[in-house]
Amino acid sequence: MTTTAEPAKQIQTFYEPVLPYLGEVKARLSAIVPPDSQLLAESLHHSLSGGGKLLRPVVGLLAGGATGTLTPHHFETAAVSEMIHIATLLHDDVLDDADLRRGRKTVRAVWGNTVSILSGDYLLAQASRKLAQVGNIRIVAIFSDVLADLCDGEVEQIRGSYNVDVIDWDSYYRKSVCKTASLFRAACESAGVLNGLPESQIQALATFGKNFGIAFQIVDDLLDYTSSESEMGKPVLDDLRNGIVNAPILLALQSDELSDDERESFRVHIRRLFASEEGDDVAQPIAGIQGYLEKTGAVAETQALADRFIRDGLAGLDFMPPSAERDALFGLGRFVIQRRT
Ligand code: FPP
Ligand code: MG
Repeated sequence: MTTTAEPAKQIQTFYEPVLPYLGEVKARLSAIVPPDSQLLAESLHHSLSGGGKLLRPVVGLLAGGATGTLTPHHFETAAVSEMIHIATLLHDDVLDDADLRRGRKTVRAVWGNTVSILSGDYLLAQASRKLAQVGNIRIVAIFSDVLADLCDGEVEQIRGSYNVDVIDWDSYYRKSVCKTASLFRAACESAGVLNGLPESQIQALATFGKNFGIAFQIVDDLLDYTSSESEMGKPVLDDLRNGIVNAPILLALQSDELSDDERESFRVHIRRLFASEEGDDVAQPIAGIQGYLEKTGAVAETQALADRFIRDGLAGLDFMPPSAERDALFGLGRFVIQRRT
């Protein structure tokens, strides 16, 4: 089994200090125990060679390298974070009926939903095996909590989908912490645990990872409005077209710039978009929604919120001694809130 994942050009700068160790992680992903089933082997090969950015392993390795000496246990744990990530995508593509991911056919599109789910399960089984090999009960608990969080976050998202009246900021925050931030948090926290850091420093790493993940999600939401179709490979307002009320919409809905009537009219546009069917002309609700986003300055406000999460996360990392890994971690934190794709 091989992996061809290479980080995208821009972000690669921050990968520099851990590039040799990333090879160790890729080797571990390639060497997972092969299944007996040829079908499963093919679908796993397809998933593992999907060209992901390996962002969770990189964040974990930078956190580990900035606070200690990287060991094979760090590489195993970093591989686990990527395996869980890929497993969630295999399951998510089934929930979303998605046929394309990163410009390639999804496993479910090629081999069907059952194989996609079972491939994700197989990866989770292999991730559990790796965690057992690391032999640290606290690390096992950290990643077990991630699995629970991922399920919680996904259900929270489903609960609020296609319903603008259900989702509020608390619900959005909970969903983002569970669904997106939990793996980044675990990658950083486990690096601190493996390095035997004092508890306060482990917690600072965990908070950084969590805030990094929340900021990453908020910027992802933002790109749904600000990035062009060619940059993101999906239509503008794609989240909303798929029933997901995300950060800019939530901030715009609660903005003081809107009168009660405007707020209601904004909701009506969203409800119309949610009620539309494939092929319907949605130009009017889309224009209405974009108008309210502009009026409320929601894009700038959303960007400021992502900035705040990164700043707060980085503020806790003062204890890190100067190093290339520290600089890259800080650089990566600032990069994710400025990215365009
Ligand atoms: C992708 O996000 C999906 C996730 C980050 C989490 C999905 C979680 C589950 C399916 C539940 C539990 C799964 C496991 C394996 C424990 P997205 O849908 O926002 O982004 P996308 O545009 O990349 O699909
Ligand atoms: Mg999805």
